[in-house]
Amino acid sequence: MAAAALLSVARQPSRTALFAFTRSLGTAPTPPRHSFDKISAQHISALKQIVGGDANCFTDATSLAAYNADWTGRYRGSSQLALRPPTPRAVADALKYCTQHGLAVVPQGGNTGLVGGGVPVYDEVVISTAALNAVESVDADSGCVVAGAGVVLQALDEELAKHNLMVPLDLGAKGSCHIGGNVSTNAGGLRYLRYGSLHGSVLGLEVALADGTLLDLLSTCRKDNTGYDLKQLFIGAEGTLGIVTRVALQAAPRPSSVQAAWIGIQTFEDVRRALRLARRHLGETLSAFEFVDRASLDVVLEGQHASMRLHDPLPDNPTPFHALVEVSGSNEAHDTEKLEHFLEAASEEGIAVDGTVASGGRQLAELWAIREGISEALARRGAPVYKYDVSIPLSCWYDIVTDMRARLSEAGYNDSSGVRVVGYGHMGDANMHLNISSLEVDDRIGNLIEPWVYEWVSSRGGSISAEHGLGQMKASAIGYSKHPEAVRLMAQIKDVLDPSGTLNPYKVLPSS
Ligand code: FAD
Ligand code: MLT
Ligand code: ZN
Repeated sequence: MAAAALLSVARQPSRTALFAFTRSLGTAPTPPRHSFDKISAQHISALKQIVGGDANCFTDATSLAAYNADWTGRYRGSSQLALRPPTPRAVADALKYCTQHGLAVVPQGGNTGLVGGGVPVYDEVVISTAALNAVESVDADSGCVVAGAGVVLQALDEELAKHNLMVPLDLGAKGSCHIGGNVSTNAGGLRYLRYGSLHGSVLGLEVALADGTLLDLLSTCRKDNTGYDLKQLFIGAEGTLGIVTRVALQAAPRPSSVQAAWIGIQTFEDVRRALRLARRHLGETLSAFEFVDRASLDVVLEGQHASMRLHDPLPDNPTPFHALVEVSGSNEAHDTEKLEHFLEAASEEGIAVDGTVASGGRQLAELWAIREGISEALARRGAPVYKYDVSIPLSCWYDIVTDMRARLSEAGYNDSSGVRVVGYGHMGDANMHLNISSLEVDDRIGNLIEPWVYEWVSSRGGSISAEHGLGQMKASAIGYSKHPEAVRLMAQIKDVLDPSGTLNPYKVLPSS
């Protein structure tokens, strides 16, 4: 039903026409509820039986509150039923029941998503993968790990550490997000620069489909060219095509030496020069190049919990821009030498005004705590943050921050009115996180931001979602980054796998 409406949208003749459509919906309110069935006592009782009883079935207001609310505080659903199936088979059976009885479903992992993808829009049944939390096998020869979708990223990494391996993915939400959620969002994170996309490191998946099929694509082969690579469809599908139940992943060798430098830089042009220099000097040892502007740093230092005690790494030389440059490898002396040469060159060439180096231990953790603490500090600051996660060419990467500041400032929204526009992100991957924080909810701010921000990105050939996905936040804005024929094909694929639209309605693709 939803897909049919989509097709007519996507049949627009040109990208410009699609922009016109998305623009009209860009800041539109929640789409109307599709004609799914309402959950009844009979449904609850049948689904309870499928998932193994009361312990895996939640209908009380207190438990449901957590399933209905997202991390950002911006999105809240009103589901009356959350399920935690104990096995992949039970996930598939619950899904089949929902499809057969016209109930909509939202798959949920660790619920750390930032685009409202993992929470219900209305009263969808939440199917959580939290109980699929076993690391099933680690092959120390090949580095292939097989894990349930509900394994927490950090727990998976700790298990791999026992074999001198690591998950080739790291992000600030590692303590809560699930590997199934990571795969479903195609999460990027802090070391994408070094290890690349999950499209490369996922070897196989097991997926529950809307009709109850448990699709076994759980290959552990590094090379497998037998037909279409179906698993790729589910990586980044945000739960709209199936529920990932098990993941086979190519782990990476765990580096024995990790060091980082925090450098202060005066101009954005010099930050670009620093990245080029880092690539040239650090080569294969470079494992992260993260960007933090002064406004982001200030938000972390001001908004931290008293227990954190984070300090400005360069208190004597405040600069507008900072880069956190990490090297990792297997030979500490070699990596240290490389990092030192890079820093010398950065200083000699007038790129870095100041810098500090941390090798392992508490110092290194503190530098990363600053970078990883930005989202939380912003979330604590006031009203729900306006979060934009975009890919933009480096030639104009920071312009989006200055242009947004100027735009809001013209309308009277600036530091003195408590509005902060901050920029940070994975600069090594040209992935900017533009965030706008205000102390109070004010819809006028939202209207000044959207659709302007999407037009800005689109007109520079960027992507409106570099890593967080579209969820419900950007489903209607997909046309800013994808041509109509691509959106049409996506809708057709959705129709094949989920013809009744059970899975995660109102997310990813424009809704009728
Ligand atoms: P959820 O939030 O539960 O779900 C996310 C989406 O995936 C939803 O659409 C949901 O329906 C779907 N889904 C979840 N599990 C499954 C499954 N098993 N099968 C099918 N669909 C499923 N993201 C990045 O990319 N890079 C970052 O650096 C990063 N840093 C973050 C830092 C913080 C502090 C926070 C709060 C979030 C951050 N995120 C980042 C966003 C988020 O953590 C990632 O998107 C993460 O991959 C989501 O995993 P999750 O298990 O929490 O999924
Ligand atoms: C990050 O890189 O910190 C995350 O993607 C989260 C965010 O954008 O706030
Ligand atoms: Zn990020």
